[in-house]
Amino acid sequence: MITDQVTTIVKNEISPYIHEGYIAVDLTAGNGNDTCFLAEKIGVKGKVYAFDVQAIAIEETKKKLEDKHLEDRVLLVHDGHENIDKYIKEKIHVAMLNLGYLPSGDKTIITRPKTTICAIRKVIKLLEIGGVLSIIVYYGHAGGQQEKDSVEEVLQNLDEKKIDVMTISYPNRKSSAPIIYLLYKRGNLDDF
Ligand SMILES: C[S@@+](CC[C@H](N)C(=O)[O-])C[C@H]1O[C@@H](n2cnc3c(N)ncnc32)[C@H](O)[C@@H]1O
Repeated sequence: MITDQVTTIVKNEISPYIHEGYIAVDLTAGNGNDTCFLAEKIGVKGKVYAFDVQAIAIEETKKKLEDKHLEDRVLLVHDGHENIDKYIKEKIHVAMLNLGYLPSGDKTIITRPKTTICAIRKVIKLLEIGGVLSIIVYYGHAGGQQEKDSVEEVLQNLDEKKIDVMTISYPNRKSSAPIIYLLYKRGNLDDF
């Protein structure tokens, strides 16, 4: 399945940047898969912050973490990722942002351009130099194209001396196949 493929690519790509004791963020916890992945990677001394606006997503993530005995190293935040700066007062090393809707849930609850862009800007500011942010954009649903356009506009205008932005996509797919963006912070973006 294409979703599994993009998730695997992202995990493989960001894994070398995650070490024991690191601070990680899952900006859209959803079913908790990425939160569990990050929690395993950062080890007992690390910390994961996981955000979601849906109570059901927070519950599902909590259950998955408990099954794997990973709950102690994760702070679950039932709030929008656009408020990340209210909860995180330290520098972060890695963040994952999977846009769209919860596949198993209410498909009308989607990430939206304004809050997505706000979260991306705040995360870039919070990232350590050497840190990485992965973004998967699913845009086949209503409103998805606008979100994709907004994300691209922001990413295209980031200072190339301070941050590398890489894209992985499926150019031969006729439908709206997901797009991966990988951001590697190389310098401080003070004016951000
Ligand atoms: C594609 S799913 C995430 C999948 C998840 N990463 C996983 O591993 O299962 C998108 C999620 O974003 C959540 N969401 C929508 N708007 C949000 C916001 N402003 N802040 C945080 N989460 C949001 C939805 O509730 C949904 O659970």
